[in-house]
Amino acid sequence: MVSGLNKSKVAAILKITEDLNQIKDIDSLLDRVLLEARRFSRSDAGSIYLLENQKLRINYVQNDTLIQKESGKKYLYQNHEIAINDKSMAGYVAMTKKNLIIDDAYQLDETVPYGFNRSFDQQALYQTRSVLTVPLIASQNRLIGVMQIINSLNEQKEIVPFRSEDELVVAYFANHAAGCIEKAKMTREIILRMIGIAELRDPEETGSHVNRVGAYSIEIYSQWAQNHNVAEVEIKKIKDVLRIAAMLHDVGKVAISDTLLKKRGSLNKDEFLQMQRHVILGARLFKNSTSDWDDMAAEIALNHHEKWDGSGYPGKINDIFDDHWAPGPGKKGVEIPLLARIVALADVYDALTSQRIYKDCWPEEKVKRYLQEQKGKHFDPELVDAFFSIYDVIRAIQNKYGDN
Ligand code: C2E
Ligand code: SIN
Ligand code: SIN
Ligand code: FE
Ligand code: FE
Repeated sequence: MVSGLNKSKVAAILKITEDLNQIKDIDSLLDRVLLEARRFSRSDAGSIYLLENQKLRINYVQNDTLIQKESGKKYLYQNHEIAINDKSMAGYVAMTKKNLIIDDAYQLDETVPYGFNRSFDQQALYQTRSVLTVPLIASQNRLIGVMQIINSLNEQKEIVPFRSEDELVVAYFANHAAGCIEKAKMTREIILRMIGIAELRDPEETGSHVNRVGAYSIEIYSQWAQNHNVAEVEIKKIKDVLRIAAMLHDVGKVAISDTLLKKRGSLNKDEFLQMQRHVILGARLFKNSTSDWDDMAAEIALNHHEKWDGSGYPGKINDIFDDHWAPGPGKKGVEIPLLARIVALADVYDALTSQRIYKDCWPEEKVKRYLQEQKGKHFDPELVDAFFSIYDVIRAIQNKYGDN
């Protein structure tokens, strides 16, 4: 038995292992793995890099110090890549597939075979000192990424070196996480492929559009939930499912004719009526199936074009399988499910800030004015406020998932 790792700690580790197996969304999974690794090693920050096109791309960042600073959260959406070589610790660990413990990143001995990449510290005004970096290795010894844990803290919140016990536990999480990450990545890929099929039809429904709408939605939800003192576990549970459900808000467009989807310029009344059916067609795809996100995805698909003042569509519907739909009065206010109100805001923001086949993208100031003006009309006023209170995060997401 390793000193310091008592029975109850081991039990806790096993429980976490079990929990990790239940998580579906890849970001939720990375969040949890990193959180647990940091909790065990009492450290201030950490990141997970995943291997993409022979490079390490930063996929998840946590940083307690930065998050407390004003607008620190935007650094969590940084978008940087590291080559697999000895210029950085992360790159070196990916290259050697071995754990690496550093007591002070700014006092590296000249003889060590790796360097320290200071670009993040410099950008974020953060100081990295003690660093524990471990490879994420899946079956057949395949490298899928690297986890880096930064600045272990003692009881006085001073930065101290990592202990070998930390290395053991963090490496254990990394090992277990690797398999789960592969599984979650596959789920995300299948969803994106579904969306890819829609994309063949609708040139605007790109992977980057849905990635952005998914990310905006979970951030708006988080802010709303914090304002309402929703428990952290509940927030995480919703976020796990919300991202995917939000990404799928427009899948119903697969059933809409090409002439409408690809029409340059405005739709006439009849065409718009056809187009509006995408919310019902989308909801149908998720009815009577069994995965965890189906109910939420159906609710969002059906209600994402309802408006706070009741002027949206499709309105109250008795049977989504009835083909004779005609627009009636819309749902109003909190009759519209919260998550659909959130996706409505995220979707319109993204539609306005992007180019569509029927319209150019709007300048940022115009979009901001429009959202404010629609507060209480199209959008839930409280959500518009939540949105603007995290506007720097929204912009960072936009940067991260730029158009491809
Ligand atoms: P979308 O392009 O993803 O747009 C989503 C929503 O963003 C729209 O829902 C609308 O609320 C908002 N939006 C987008 N562009 C504008 C704009 O220029 N001005 C304003 N004020 N709001 C905008 P909506 O109207 O229910 O449309 C649903 C979908 O129908 C759109 O999804 C798009 O695929 C299609 N569509 C709507 N209008 C037109 C059009 O004039 N021409 C074509 N070809 N398609 C359209
Ligand atoms: C980074 O570039 O942020 C990672 C630091 C390192 O591994 O050298
Ligand atoms: C909820 O608490 O989840 C819904 C309340 C609302 O729709 O604002
Ligand atoms: Fe839509
Ligand atoms: Fe959309």
